[in-house]
Amino acid sequence: MTGIGVTDPRGRIFIEAAAYTDDDAWHATATELRAAGPIHRFAYPDLTPFHVALGHAEVMEIERNSEIFTNEPMATWARERIDLDVPKEPAMVNTLINMDGEEHRSHRALVNDWFKPGAVRQLEDQIRAQAIRSVDEMARRGGSCDFAADIAVNYPLRVILDILGLDEAEFPRVLRLTQELFGASDPDFERVGEDDQMMAVIMDMIGLFTGLNAERRADPTHDLATVIANGAIDGVPLEDMDTYGYYLIVATAGHDTTSNAIAGGLDALLRNPDQLQRLLDDPGLVDSAVDEIVRWVSPVKHFMRSCQRDHTLASGTTLHRGDWILLSYASANRDERVFDDPFRFDIGRADADKHLGFGFGRHYCLGAHIARLEIRALFRELFTRLTHIERTGPTERVASILVSGPKRLPVTYAFKD
Ligand code: HEM
Repeated sequence: MTGIGVTDPRGRIFIEAAAYTDDDAWHATATELRAAGPIHRFAYPDLTPFHVALGHAEVMEIERNSEIFTNEPMATWARERIDLDVPKEPAMVNTLINMDGEEHRSHRALVNDWFKPGAVRQLEDQIRAQAIRSVDEMARRGGSCDFAADIAVNYPLRVILDILGLDEAEFPRVLRLTQELFGASDPDFERVGEDDQMMAVIMDMIGLFTGLNAERRADPTHDLATVIANGAIDGVPLEDMDTYGYYLIVATAGHDTTSNAIAGGLDALLRNPDQLQRLLDDPGLVDSAVDEIVRWVSPVKHFMRSCQRDHTLASGTTLHRGDWILLSYASANRDERVFDDPFRFDIGRADADKHLGFGFGRHYCLGAHIARLEIRALFRELFTRLTHIERTGPTERVASILVSGPKRLPVTYAFKD
């Protein structure tokens, strides 16, 4: 750690939601911090001191050593104080994100096959149909819309409803719930009363999934809900409460992440007209553009790890038992030690697949293949049919330290006849 004091206010960009609403300013500060070293410690009054891993190699090394750097007791940054030696209240609903070791392995194994590329390919037709429907909707809007709010938000949620086997009538409820869970600090999505907020959201979710469980146990189909509702570990069927964790993580992790990637992808293209033109001329380039979009947008901004025993990273910093480390995917994805000219958005970039936008290691995003498929299907359909698109107003971004991207992206456009 060099040159950066623990009270340096620049460290607040990682933990203050408002900082993520200005992407350029956020990256300018992260780049300064990265230049001073790939990992820093910050300590502010009344908050648990924390480290930030800004470098690509450091994020990977920490994720690779998942026995030393655990997701428990707190996998996302929070204002409450974290102490490894004080037992934490057990979570009401456990998700993969809160699990470590054997518990994580056995729970992930239940649904792993369902998310593998071969299985995901079977969703291709369904996803393409939803992509066509979204672009049809854009066409019906007669040449202008808010691409983020009108198109990018709805599409991944419809895919999630499809893969979970939920009725489309549940759309508004699941939409509001996922926005409140992940955009909890954004005034546009906020519920009153911060402490009770998360609990109320989770109770809503539980209500929604109770019926689904009962239906799939009585009448199994081929959807993900059937796998979850009838899941067993070592021959012991999952408790209802455990199944809710899966529904919760799939419904939330699969929604805002993908919609922010899609809206952020179009925003990046509009800011780089030469790249936009390449896609308009040859929509087939979408396949290679997907990873660059995820690298550039990095919709998931961070996860936290807790250090269980002292460990010296290859780059020299020693982390001690009890240290709490923020993995900054957004920073790692602009690491100049890995990406050639990292601030160039280039849909043909050769090193795009090195990005850490889906994380790394044991917790690597379970839905990465689905997410790629969704982004590809929507942009392929869009750029095959568009002749022209331009912005009509500024991009506004979600105020969240966890998942952020454009929430408003007003555009005007024309389709081929
Ligand atoms: C562009 C879209 C997406 C991005 C950027 C994204 C990113 C991430 C990241 C960074 C993680 C944590 C990885 C780590 O700790 O190393 C994660 C985990 C996860 N994601 Fe995604 N995700 C996306 C879409 C999806 C979709 C569509 C689904 C499901 C349909 C999904 C389901 C999950 C699950 C279940 C986990 C937890 C895995 C575990 O802890 O073992 N994600 N995702």
